[in-house]
Amino acid sequence: MPHTTKLLFLAGSAREGSLNKRLARLGVDIATANGLHATFADLGDYPMPLYDGDLETKSGAPDNAVKLKALMSIHAGVFIAAPEYNAGITPLLKNTLDWMSRVKAEGEAPLHVFKSRVFALGAASPGGFGGLRGLMAARTVLELGLGALVLPDQIAIPRAMDAFDERGHLKDAAQQASLKAVVEKLARAARVLHGEG
Ligand SMILES: Cc1cc2nc3c(=O)[nH]c(=O)nc-3n(C[C@H](O)[C@H](O)[C@H](O)COP(=O)(O)O)c2cc1C
Repeated sequence: MPHTTKLLFLAGSAREGSLNKRLARLGVDIATANGLHATFADLGDYPMPLYDGDLETKSGAPDNAVKLKALMSIHAGVFIAAPEYNAGITPLLKNTLDWMSRVKAEGEAPLHVFKSRVFALGAASPGGFGGLRGLMAARTVLELGLGALVLPDQIAIPRAMDAFDERGHLKDAAQQASLKAVVEKLARAARVLHGEG
């Protein structure tokens, strides 16, 4: 029976041919096939200026940061496919998270939207390590910076240019199973966190 747990899937790249968008979209397919409500949000649909304190003082956070935070708040679990740029996370993902961290409703505790849901991470890279170092950086930002609960389970897809088949599935059965396991665990953790057992 379908349940009410909602998962949000993001990728830290807005590029049309993004490998990480493919990974995030595959996560949506897997979640949906498991009876979960899953949403893919393309950060390219939420453009934001580069964070600037003067801009924030003048105009507040951009509408798209407010919208993305609202979208996140109706999902109990969030999967982020985070590309690795120079062993870190992409400026797009960092900028998006930085602006979102500045959106606070009246009376709301700081970073509430990050602290009240559960996250899981994945990465896809043309390189041999699959973006693993970028995942460590993403974990630091989410856990230490934003106070988020991030599952220890994660997936890194090396040589990702050749990793997906024409249906968008991972050709390697073990990788496909690993992604499924991460998505299922994210859903389970989100259910527990939100009192659905
Ligand atoms: C500025 C820059 C730095 C990069 N640094 C790394 C890196 O440290 N490790 C890695 O595996 N790939 C690195 N890459 C390659 C990206 O993993 C590759 O471009 C990937 O396709 C980006 O994700 P996307 O396909 O979702 O856009 C880098 C790419 C760029 C543009």
